[in-house]
Amino acid sequence: MKQFLLGAASVIGLGAIAGFGYIQNGGLDFAADTAHSDGVTKLIAWAREQSITRQTKDIVPPGDLTSGERIRRGAGNYEAMCVGCHLSPGVENSEIRKGLYPVPPNLALADDATNASEGDGRRFWIIKHGIKGSGMPAWAKGGMDDEAIWDLTAFIKVLPKLSANEYQANVAASEGHSHAGMPHEPAPRQQPEKGHNHEGHSHSRHKHSH
Ligand code: HEC
Repeated sequence: MKQFLLGAASVIGLGAIAGFGYIQNGGLDFAADTAHSDGVTKLIAWAREQSITRQTKDIVPPGDLTSGERIRRGAGNYEAMCVGCHLSPGVENSEIRKGLYPVPPNLALADDATNASEGDGRRFWIIKHGIKGSGMPAWAKGGMDDEAIWDLTAFIKVLPKLSANEYQANVAASEGHSHAGMPHEPAPRQQPEKGHNHEGHSHSRHKHSH
């Protein structure tokens, strides 16, 4: 038994040294335009899901998650902050999404979105905390409150069922880009809104060409 344990320990030790050498030699490619090997992809996905499962087990979604009000409010924020990476009905791809690795799931497609009801807490958590090293931002750090995050969770739950026209109608009916989910007194605006604006400065609208 003792010999077996010693043998196992040396195999693990040698493996760790080989792995370290491989990484030290620059063997792990960090370019976003080449994929990780299957093994590394699976290892990362497994580690991510283990971590998310552990951190989401006590999250209880609000009882009114399927309410039309939440869906309506979530639509405006989705259009303002998520659509470039996660697309919308009828939109096949975007410039930023093509270049990201991992590629953001197309949340307008039922196959891409994990839409089982037990996924609500998971999606809420991902929107709130983001996913390290993936391009998925922690929206709470940007100032979004929990209610607004639940509104987005409610919206992406129905998104794969919407046609392009229904999507646009939801966005038009929403309050646009707003970080508080519940009805509130309109916040004083520094400037008339010009496009998507976090800091009170406006982006200059120059022509985008390659
Ligand atoms: C800059 C690109 C980017 C933006 C903007 C972005 N995301 Fe993501 N998102 C990602 C990427 C990349 C992943 C996949 C991460 C991974 O698999 O490790 C992801 C994953 C997710 C997931 C998990 C999907 C699943 O079922 O596994 C949800 C939910 C999500 N994003 C919601 C949102 C919402 C809502 C917004 C807007 C408030 C948003 N994202 C904005 C890049 C983005």
